[in-house]
Amino acid sequence: MNKFIPVNEPLLDGNEKKYLVECIDTGWISSEGPFVQRFEETMAHVAGRTYGIAVCNGTVALEVAVAALELRPGDEIIMPSFTIISCAAAVIRRGCVPVLVDSDPDTWNMDVLQIEAKITPRTKAIMVVHIYGLPVEMDAVLSLASRHGLRIIEDAAQMHGQTYKDRPCGSFGDISTFSFYPNKHVTTGEGGMLVTDDERLAERCRSLRNLCFQKKRFVHDELGYNFRMTNMQAALGMAQTERLPEFVSRKRHMGKLYTELLSAVPGIQLPLSKKEYAENIYWVYGLILNDEVSFDAEEAMRRLANKDVGTRPFFWPMHEQPVFRSRGLFKGQSYPVAERLARRGFYIPSGLALTNEQMERAASAVVEIMK
Ligand SMILES: Cc1ncc(COP(=O)(O)O)c(C=O)c1O
Repeated sequence: MNKFIPVNEPLLDGNEKKYLVECIDTGWISSEGPFVQRFEETMAHVAGRTYGIAVCNGTVALEVAVAALELRPGDEIIMPSFTIISCAAAVIRRGCVPVLVDSDPDTWNMDVLQIEAKITPRTKAIMVVHIYGLPVEMDAVLSLASRHGLRIIEDAAQMHGQTYKDRPCGSFGDISTFSFYPNKHVTTGEGGMLVTDDERLAERCRSLRNLCFQKKRFVHDELGYNFRMTNMQAALGMAQTERLPEFVSRKRHMGKLYTELLSAVPGIQLPLSKKEYAENIYWVYGLILNDEVSFDAEEAMRRLANKDVGTRPFFWPMHEQPVFRSRGLFKGQSYPVAERLARRGFYIPSGLALTNEQMERAASAVVEIMK
């Protein structure tokens, strides 16, 4: 057997079909069906929060978060350079200024020791992004935010079911967000969620999600969006969250197996299995090519594709994005860890439907290309 091993395949063999059929049988297919509220309550509970506001993806969840916090044009938001463009886009679309910090070379998360030097009188928030499986060192962020009066936006898109010092990821931001894209531990196909404990913020998020309708329908005093999630998406989400503990434990098992299979391979850095504040949840299993390896991540991914193993590159840093450079942003800035992660890092098949046999084949292919 030599079938291509996809980089991600979701697991949809629980109650997904049953709940979807329920949507069709009852006619509740828009955002007004009962699964939406159930899913909001469930995800709020998962994150240890009071309110959940479902939206149509994790990117717009960040847009709504920035808008709901009433950050003004020119306000600065500190965030990692090594992240997805959704984070910087949400900030820039609001007229705010993303201020970047580099990453920690071992956890790949924002280096929290670099934050304080970036705080100015215009700084209003820190956007924390938990990357690939280990959470950001939150104690440092919470203490800085409290000392300098900053808001926290927590992007927990990849962190369903992860904790920091036993407290759920998604519980740390004034507003925290999730994505439910199919490579996430909980998927709705496309989908996202904001969670918060602040009733007023929750109300603002709900309003922004739904065109800012006022009491008198079709009369608006603010421009909102249609970012609603459908009942069908939420139905999938409910079936998925029922299995979250099982998914988290499977992901940890997968991470452990890959680490056993790959720890003796020369030339690659593997994900850390844990920090003192958390065990890795291995949202994806990333590899970094050491500097002495003669080829880069792009070449490694090409070689693995030839061996029927799917891969994905790591994020490309925000300060190196052509779309931002052409706007004159981040001129002359350099974040060497983020630059190296982007060029030397990639991830191997990590989806929940992956079998141990497929993981063994993927790991053997890595061994082969590193010879
Ligand atoms: C850290 C992070 N934030 C935001 C997003 C955006 O989520 P979505 O793809 O649902 O728009 C992603 C997507 O993978 C992500 O990894």
